[in-house]
Parts: sequence; C-alpha cells; structure tokens
Amino acid sequence: MITFTDYYNNEVKLSFDDHPFSENPKHVWVICRSDNRWLLTKHKERGIEFPGGKVEEGETAEEAAVREVYEETGGVVKDLVYIGQYHVAGKGGTIIKNVYFATIEQVIEQATYYETEGPVWLDEFPKHMKINPDYSFMMKDQVLPLSLKRVYLLAQFH
Ligand code: GTP
Repeated sequence: MITFTDYYNNEVKLSFDDHPFSENPKHVWVICRSDNRWLLTKHKERGIEFPGGKVEEGETAEEAAVREVYEETGGVVKDLVYIGQYHVAGKGGTIIKNVYFATIEQVIEQATYYETEGPVWLDEFPKHMKINPDYSFMMKDQVLPLSLKRVYLLAQFH
C-alpha cells in the first residue's frame, strides 16, 4: 500500500491488492485505451479526466465502470481489468474507488454525455499536467502514474 496526498491535500491510500479497503466500493475510475490512444472525457467543472463515477443501487462496480465509460465517452468496453483500489480521506468523508483498465472496441456518438462534454483522445499525457488547468484534479496525484505502471506491468496492450 502506498500513501500520499492528493491535489487538495487529502490523504490517499492506494493498493494493487484485491479490494483491500472494500469489497463493494461506491466509486470507479477507468483508464481507457482506444485504438492506441487514451480515451478520456471532459468534465464540465473538473476538466479532462478518465471517465468514472458512482456505483448505482443494484449495480456491481464492474457494471458501473462499463456504464460510466459509455455515458461519458460513448466508448464500448471490450475488456475490463481490475487494477487496484484507493481510499481518500476527504474533508466531507472518505471515498473508496476501484481503478480499472479498459480496452475500448468502438466509440459511439451520444446525444448527451451527462456532466461531461464527451470523449477526449490523447496520444500521450501532457508534460505539465499537474499545473495544467484543463486537467481534473483526479489526474494530478500519484494514482494515475502508479496505476499506469501497473497497467504496463500487466501488459494489457503493446
Ligand atoms: P456528488 O454527491 O455527486 O455531488 O459528488 P461529490 O462532488 O460530493 O463528489 P464525490 O462524492 O465523488 O467525492 C467527494 C470528495 O472526495 C471530492 O470532493 C474529492 O475531494 C474526493 N474525491 C472523489 N474522487 C476522488 C478521486 O478520484 N481522487 C481524489 N484524490 N479525491 C477524490
């Protein structure tokens, strides 16, 4: 388990073990790969980030991951791999989030992208993402680089 602080100075605990904090986390975050590019979304307030959100009543975390990717990007998940789980101790309470890596088979244009502006494709991440106001705070702590390391380790794509 790795502990660090996030963009807002909240304590984050990240682990690549099998569901170390909760068997039924209420949040999901999905690192998406579509046709050799990263597939993200642009949240109307937070900015560019990988899709994700809350697990709804009666839904599994995996189902929520597939749904959120589709709703926020139009991406159809072909393959979903569990990467890890993190715990954020925030001012307004704690949240536990599963991180997944998804391979996207196609991206279908949507009439609405809910609280986002829809798909954003990236060949690579910008160098100074941490200070780039176009990017969401979720892209600015150690969760992304450490999860990406894990994705490469698991060799889900080449
Ligand atoms: P609504 O109930 O939909 O309004 O959600 P919310 O805005 O209260 O946000 P949510 O319950 O998703 O998260 C609450 C707080 O947890 C956020 O304000 C953040 O401080 C923190 N948080 C949520 N997701 C993440 C994340 O992926 N990374 C980090 N570091 N903090 C997060």
